[in-house]
Amino acid sequence: MDSIRICGEVPLYGRLKVQGSKNAALPILAATVLIPGVSILHNCPRIEDVHLMCKLLVSVGCCVKWEGNTLIVDASEITEAGGQRPLEKGAGQPGREACRMPAEYVEKMRSSVIFMGAMLGRTGEISLKYPGGCVIGKRPIDLHLMAMEQLGVETAQTEEGVTARVKRLRGGHIRFPIRSVGATENSILAAACAEGTTILEHTALEPEIHALCEFLRSAGAEITGEETGRIRIDGREKLHGCEYSIPTDRIVTGTYLLACMAAGGEILLEGACRKEQQALLGVLERMGAEAEARPEGILCHRNRLLLSPGEVVTEVYPGYPTDLQSPMLAVMAIARGSSGMTETIFENRFRVAEELNRMGAGICVEGRRAYVPGSAALHGEVVRARELRGGAALVVAGLAAQGETIVSGRQFIDRGYEDIVRDLRALGADISYEWEEDNSKGDGQSSV
Ligand code: UD1
Repeated sequence: MDSIRICGEVPLYGRLKVQGSKNAALPILAATVLIPGVSILHNCPRIEDVHLMCKLLVSVGCCVKWEGNTLIVDASEITEAGGQRPLEKGAGQPGREACRMPAEYVEKMRSSVIFMGAMLGRTGEISLKYPGGCVIGKRPIDLHLMAMEQLGVETAQTEEGVTARVKRLRGGHIRFPIRSVGATENSILAAACAEGTTILEHTALEPEIHALCEFLRSAGAEITGEETGRIRIDGREKLHGCEYSIPTDRIVTGTYLLACMAAGGEILLEGACRKEQQALLGVLERMGAEAEARPEGILCHRNRLLLSPGEVVTEVYPGYPTDLQSPMLAVMAIARGSSGMTETIFENRFRVAEELNRMGAGICVEGRRAYVPGSAALHGEVVRARELRGGAALVVAGLAAQGETIVSGRQFIDRGYEDIVRDLRALGADISYEWEEDNSKGDGQSSV
């Protein structure tokens, strides 16, 4: 299994163009299924989760081609997964076997569930194993299914998975009890080509929802209100091919801002959007760091000692993102004074604390809150990534640690970071990939 080797205490300097957003690209790739034509996606990150999504697209008959970071998807014809049977609207007839998505990809990636809305919109049927269990929490799909049912879909669940069928999707009125990113995306996808109008209330406000709506609008969909939490979708009979540029990844941006906090120095992250980083930048200011919005991105520097930010609570957007909770733990560990981190989105997202503690962080987890004593002198260690953002947190900790840190489980980091070593090296970090014997099998399955 590949590892990442970091020699810490080297400050970061320079500028870097941040990759395209994973969480925007994945639902947009699912959306291409709705379009009987060619979609051209620029700035698409070449990461493992996107490659898995491409495999799912190919499995239902799409042609997928990369040109640099541009991904071209031709979904002119959709066929039964792995087979020749063409599928078109109205395929969702009772009594016949629904189009089954290949389990080997579905199980590996939670986001495969957003294929449901798109496949129902295009063909009226889908059969899907439950997306794999995940080390960060239970990740149920009840809200996705509730929303599909409100749009006229019949769902049948077994222990292994779910089959969904509909003759013709029809608009509906859905109010979500909690704001769910994935369930909002799935509902938008299903409603885009439904008959009539759909109103979605209490929807997720994450920027990736806006990106999905922008993409669908450029393909001819009628969608308004996504930035208000109340979305109106007037279903269209058919969408058309389009060209779209995936926005910058705000979580990768945040990870690199935190990397600069851990290592010190001054970096300019090109393409970074200040508005999307509001919550993180607020915390960094409390820690004594400085960040400045420039026309080309965000300039950030940390030359002094970091102070504790006090309490940080993960929340839905625009609150502090759960995906930046783990890398922040690494930075809290070296700040002067104690801090607290409360995780409100996923119930099991502190597993990285164990590994950070092996580096000297001294974190104490009680239920949904982690207490970080601060002022730690982190030291290099051999540690293991078990999931995507926890893995990134170990790299961030390695940048602050004295001596050499080896992070195994690189494959988890590759799911969301195009090339974390390339990027941090470009900023001057002493970091490289290493090959080691495959003696530690990962136990995580799905990324977020
Ligand atoms: C997405 C992001 C992930 C991020 C998360 C929260 C992608 C690919 N992933 O994940 O990086 O950490 O948003 O910002 O975009 N829930 C239910 N029932 C459901 C669906 C969700 O109870 O049917 C719960 C979840 O268990 C969780 C909460 O709702 O506690 C939020 O989850 P959700 O917003 O759906 O996250 P994802 O879309 O899975």
